[in-house]
Amino acid sequence: MVYKRPFKCLKTVMANLVTVFVVMGIIVSGFRIGADGLNMNYYFVESVVKDIVNRALEDDPSLAAPLLRMHFHDCFIQIINILTRSKIEDTINLPFPNLNAFDLIKMFGQHGFSAQEMVALSGAHTIGVARCSSFKNRLTKIDPNLNSEFAKTLSRTCSDGDNAEQPFDETRDDFDNLYIDALVSGNGVLASNQTLFTSPRTRNFVNSYTKPSLVLLGFSTSHGQNELA
Ligand SMILES: *[C@@H]1O[C@H](CO)[C@@H](O)[C@H](O)[C@H]1NC(C)=O
Repeated sequence: MVYKRPFKCLKTVMANLVTVFVVMGIIVSGFRIGADGLNMNYYFVESVVKDIVNRALEDDPSLAAPLLRMHFHDCFIQIINILTRSKIEDTINLPFPNLNAFDLIKMFGQHGFSAQEMVALSGAHTIGVARCSSFKNRLTKIDPNLNSEFAKTLSRTCSDGDNAEQPFDETRDDFDNLYIDALVSGNGVLASNQTLFTSPRTRNFVNSYTKPSLVLLGFSTSHGQNELA
């Protein structure tokens, strides 16, 4: 029953958010929790962790954002682990750079995924690169769905040969919403990526996933009803 995990993972994120806010509250008010009434071991570990976080945050309050990101990242990795065990990973990694939305919906449908889930899965693949060989055919003619400035970027990448790598978005190692944003701006690397926004059958889902947290929620809600294995 792997499908329960995304919920647990989201709960952990929420708990971590609360912890971070509590830690921040402690800093702001100067309030210190006493050891009385608390289990000493637990208190010791907690206080060491809090001290480290407190000191780091005092030195650099802007650390709060990366801390939150880290929690989301762990959550994301956990979800990806679930996906890796599922057959869908085989499907999404198949190199079909030119499939249109209709074929993609059909292919994912055969694995029991809806069009919305397909877009959520794609949005979670914000990390990674494509090789020039899988998108160079897009550059031979004018493609109205391809941003003309981005076409120049792709051409520059391909000037280094078929194996040259193009990240799916500007932050190739980060889980964020830039890949989804890229689709909205016509900056999808592969035709099969851009088609998710071009096609009226999936465009609204792309629009609804322009916030990364919603992609995560898309997982938990869409898999609440399905078993993956
Ligand atoms: C883009 O499409 C390819 C081929 O269909 C797929 O393997 C890849 O995961 C997609 N990229 C993203 C970021 O979803």
